[in-house]
Amino acid sequence: MQNPCVTFHRINAGSDRALIALSIDGRAVTGLDGDTLLSVLIMHRGALRRAEAGGDLRAGFCGMGACQDCWITLADGRRVRACSTLAEAGMAIVTNLDHGQ
Ligand code: FES
Repeated sequence: MQNPCVTFHRINAGSDRALIALSIDGRAVTGLDGDTLLSVLIMHRGALRRAEAGGDLRAGFCGMGACQDCWITLADGRRVRACSTLAEAGMAIVTNLDHGQ
């Protein structure tokens, strides 16, 4: 489900970067070579996660590895910062976005 409040559009649609296949909550998605996981999540879901307190949608803050707002979980158990982790083919991102407020 895309967050209806946030819509991002890729502005370099003509890029020759290779497609990367990965998944978010079991759904197949694609990114482009060089995308961060933050980019992939925002493009496909409009948010990264829901806040533990209150359930508000979070989308990162600094975008440069400083604020700690973008920690996400991969299906293999790794916790990574979405803004500073490059998307790789086969990655499986697990979020709590489908768990309502
Ligand atoms: S958005 Fe701030 S550390 Fe990733």
